[in-house]
Amino acid sequence: MIPQPETGIPTAGSGETTLGDHVLGQLRRFGATVGLSEADTALYGQVLLDSLSGAARRPLSLPPASPSFISDDHTPVEFSLACTADAAPVLRVLVEPGYGHSNMADSARAGLEAIRAMAARWDFATDQLDALEDLFFPASAEGPLALWYALDLRAGGVPGVKVYLNPSAAGPEHAARTVREALRRLGYDKGFAKLPPGAGYPFVALDLGTWKTPRVKVYVSHPRMSADDACALSGTSGSVEADVRYFFHAAAGSFLQPEGDTEDTLRLLRRPALTCHSFTEGDADPSGFTLHIPVRDYVRDDEEAFARATALLTRFGMDPSALGRGLRALTRRQLGDGAGLIAYLALVYERNRQPRITAYLSSEAYAVRPPQEQYAQDELQYLQDELSAS
Ligand code: TRP
Repeated sequence: MIPQPETGIPTAGSGETTLGDHVLGQLRRFGATVGLSEADTALYGQVLLDSLSGAARRPLSLPPASPSFISDDHTPVEFSLACTADAAPVLRVLVEPGYGHSNMADSARAGLEAIRAMAARWDFATDQLDALEDLFFPASAEGPLALWYALDLRAGGVPGVKVYLNPSAAGPEHAARTVREALRRLGYDKGFAKLPPGAGYPFVALDLGTWKTPRVKVYVSHPRMSADDACALSGTSGSVEADVRYFFHAAAGSFLQPEGDTEDTLRLLRRPALTCHSFTEGDADPSGFTLHIPVRDYVRDDEEAFARATALLTRFGMDPSALGRGLRALTRRQLGDGAGLIAYLALVYERNRQPRITAYLSSEAYAVRPPQEQYAQDELQYLQDELSAS
């Protein structure tokens, strides 16, 4: 292997599959299923590779270069498919551009460079990001991320760009203050007061580049969420309560219920659900609401997750076949042989827009999580323990 100058990351010798080969193959195949041209996919692929710099040339036979929080197996790339009833699905890709750096300050620097390169290439402003630098990139930044970006891979070679930042960069104890101050600087003085209570703020995100209505988004984490909680959290965003409830149950599964209890006190006891609250056009009230269910923790395997996604898409009037094609573009494994290819299912409401369902899909460059045979038994045990304790 030849040491790679910028990062010291070894380059693969001939014949070894690299991280770059793996994700580029996925992008090319997935792009074709949603009708992106080869030229567009090649351009987006190049941007992705450039932003990973040396890490893209690292062979997959080596462990991940750093423990990326994007995916459970630490692949620094995740795909997603956003579906609506009235338009073709959109492929997006989430990337950790500072992947492979050993500390968050270096990772942040690499991330900012990647965003500035995109801003120069596609001619968009980064003022909003610049205004937050001291908040999200302190010298001794903490993880689990410094900066991620996502691209909406649109036809024509100009993507929608989103940037994700870590409110806990200066320590989790400062996350709330950081979110409040970020909202204030971006023109949403009263925004923080409109956020629901939660256990933490995993991300703040900015839409940069060309968007009809660019959003500022705050993600909130909700351990032990119930369907009632989900409905209460959706607030004033134009969401339909029955749809939120249906989505919650269909995504999380209607698995086990303690006897005599009602269905809607079922709670997500494993990985917490997230909500996302968006702000647009200076309006103090949130313009949108998203419910993210980490479906991978609530299924035996991806066959079950895919069945849930298919049922949901169908019920919301969306075509489920695109998701099936996307999954086949990502992997040749049987869906029943692992859990986690479908990482999250999300229901997205945005003012004046059709609701959307997004499936977040793992690259699985490094590992496939085995099916969770124990899942049902664990859940039952937990509920029995809860009942006998009460
Ligand atoms: N892997 C992290 C998680 O599971 C972060 C993450 C990646 C995420 N993609 C996501 C969170 C999509 C919400 C939605 O939480």
